[in-house]
Amino acid sequence: MNRDAWRDFPGAPSEGTHICAETEVPQAGVTSHDLDGFPLLLVASAEVLRAYVNACPHQYLPLDWRSSNILSADGETLRCSNHDAGFDACTGQGVDGLGQGCALDPVPVTVRDGWLVIG
Ligand code: FES
Repeated sequence: MNRDAWRDFPGAPSEGTHICAETEVPQAGVTSHDLDGFPLLLVASAEVLRAYVNACPHQYLPLDWRSSNILSADGETLRCSNHDAGFDACTGQGVDGLGQGCALDPVPVTVRDGWLVIG
């Protein structure tokens, strides 16, 4: 997996770009963010916060294009609302359907000075 692939997307934000205030970081579930045209998914669980480019590798549509309900009840699988590709929520790796053999592109995020930022 190329961990820098997110940098190749149009409008990829620079490191340090604000996503949201630290106090607004979701504690659970999936949220979708538009960073000046760059689509970002945050996937939060009790243990960790992960981020992916919100672009399904099947047709590069946002996973939540047709529905915001894209996380399985057990929190383990992201399911693209367009054609049902499944991805491991922890790794972004495709696990079934049109997700097999591909993966979501992870984006590094961190908390800095009271903000959740790229980096
Ligand atoms: S765009 Fe996601 S499965 Fe087709």
